[in-house]
Amino acid sequence: MNKITIAQISDIHCGSSYFGMELMDACVERINAMSPDLLVVSGDLTSEGFLHEYEIAMEQIKRFKVARKLIIPGNHDSRNVGYRIFEKMIGNPFPVAKFNADLIVCGADSTEPDLDEGQIGRHWTGMLKKRFSADFKHKILVLHHHVISVPNCGREMNILQDAGDVLKMAHKAGVDLILSGHKHIPWIWRLENMRVVTCCTTTTKRVRGFHKPSYNVIEIDSAGIHINRVEVFGKTVKVC
Ligand SMILES: [Fe+2]
Ligand SMILES: [Fe+2]
Repeated sequence: MNKITIAQISDIHCGSSYFGMELMDACVERINAMSPDLLVVSGDLTSEGFLHEYEIAMEQIKRFKVARKLIIPGNHDSRNVGYRIFEKMIGNPFPVAKFNADLIVCGADSTEPDLDEGQIGRHWTGMLKKRFSADFKHKILVLHHHVISVPNCGREMNILQDAGDVLKMAHKAGVDLILSGHKHIPWIWRLENMRVVTCCTTTTKRVRGFHKPSYNVIEIDSAGIHINRVEVFGKTVKVC
C-alpha cells in the first residue's frame, strides 16, 4: 500500500482568550510543509459555539492546504445551538474518509446540546458498526470525547456515557485506532488490538500541568500505524 499520512489537530477553540495565533501560524506552516493526505480536526473548534467563532475557525482551517479534511464537533461547538451552525458551515457531523481498500476513517459526533458529557447512542453505534464492517486494511474512529479515562483530568466526567458499547463495537469491527480530543491531555492506551489516542489542544494555552500544545501525525504503511506527537513549539515524540 502507498503510505497515508494524517495530521490530527484538536481543540483549537477559536474565539477563546486562550487561543494563540502564533500557535496556529506555526501549526499551519508545519502541517502544510508535510502535505498530509488527510487533516483531522477532532472537535472544539470554538469556545462557545457562536457564529462568529465558527467563522474564525473556518478561516483558520482553510489555511491548511490539505486536499481532504475530516471535521467533527466537540462539546463546546454544540453550545448555544452551535450544532446547527456546524451542520450548515461544515456539514455532516458523522463524516467518512476512505482511501481505496487501505483505510476508512469514520468521524462521530459525541456531543449533546449544551452538555459537556458525551455519548454516541445506540443508533449511531449501529451505523458505525455497519460502516466499519466493510473490508478495509485499517480502520480509524474519530470522536471528541474520551472512550477511556486518561490521567490528569481530575474526577472522571469526560468519557462517553456509553463508552463500553462504543468500545465493544470498535473492537469487534477491527478498529485499529481511536482518535479523540477534549481534555487537552496527550495520551495513548493500548486496548486489545486498538490504540486509543487523545490529542492535546493544538492552538491554545489551555493546557493542563506541563503539557505543551501539540498535534499528532499518523503514518500508515504496509508495516502498520506509526504515531508521532508534535509539540507546536517543541519536540516530536514517537508515541508508537
Ligand atoms: Fe477543548
Ligand atoms: Fe471538549
